[in-house]
Amino acid sequence: MFKVLKIGGSTITDKAKADCVRDEEIERIAGEILDQTSGLVLVHGAGSFGHIPAKKYGLPGKFSPEGLRITHASVVELNRIVVEALTEAGVDALPVHPLSCVLLKDGRIEKMEVDFIKEMVAGGILPVLHGDVAMDSSRRAGIVSGDQLVSYLAKALDAQTVALGTDVDGVLCSGAPLKEVTRKTLPDIESCFTQGPGTDVTGGMRGKILELLELADAGTTSLIFNARKAGMVKKALSGDAIGTLIRRSD
Ligand code: IPE
Repeated sequence: MFKVLKIGGSTITDKAKADCVRDEEIERIAGEILDQTSGLVLVHGAGSFGHIPAKKYGLPGKFSPEGLRITHASVVELNRIVVEALTEAGVDALPVHPLSCVLLKDGRIEKMEVDFIKEMVAGGILPVLHGDVAMDSSRRAGIVSGDQLVSYLAKALDAQTVALGTDVDGVLCSGAPLKEVTRKTLPDIESCFTQGPGTDVTGGMRGKILELLELADAGTTSLIFNARKAGMVKKALSGDAIGTLIRRSD
C-alpha cells in the first residue's frame, strides 16, 4: 500500500529569499514522518531554491542549458538537506532526482522510471523526490513540479493516501479552507486564487488543484493541508480528513 506525500517548497524554504531553508521545519517534519514511512514516497517542492533561478533564466519558456544546470544544482542542494535531516531523524532515505528519470512532452510527464522507487520502498528505504528541471521531447526542456510528480506517482503506484502539504490550511476561499473541491465546483472558486508571496513558476494553488483533479478523475481522492502546523503531516499520513479534499464529482 503506497502513500505519496508532498511537502511544498513554501513550507521548507522562504520562497521570497534565495536559498533560504527552514531547517527547523524540515527537522519537525522528519520527526512526524519517522514512524509512518512504510509504503511512503516523499516529494518536496523547490521553494526559493528552484523558483528563483528558474525565473532568472526564463524557464520553462526559454531553453537555457546554463539555467537548467544551475536550477537543477539548486534543487539538488535542497534535496541533500532534506535527505540529511531525515537520516538524522532516523529515517533510511535516498535522493531521487527527476531530471535523471523523467521525460516530459509538452510539459507533462511522458515517461518516468518507477520500478526502482518500488524497490526502495520494498527495501524499507524512503525515496525523496523533488520538483526539478527535466528534458521535454517537444520543447527540449521544462520544469516538472512536485505536484505533477505526486499526481503521476500516485497513479503509477495506485497510492491509497495522497497528501499535499502547503503553508495554508487547504484551498482558501474568503480566508477559510474549503471542505472539498471537485471539477464541478472548480468554476465557482476561480476567484479565490490569488498569487501568493514569493516566486512561483509552476502555477501556485490553482496548479496544485488541477494536478490533483487529474488524479481525482482516475478515482483517487487527495488532500491539500497545512504542513507548517505541527502534527498535520502525521495526521495527513494517517488518513485524517484535514484541509481540503480533492475528489471526483458525484
Ligand atoms: C518547482 O517545483 C521546480 C522548479 C522550480 C525547478 P514545485 O512547484 O513542486 O515547488 P514548490 O512546492 O512550488 O516550491
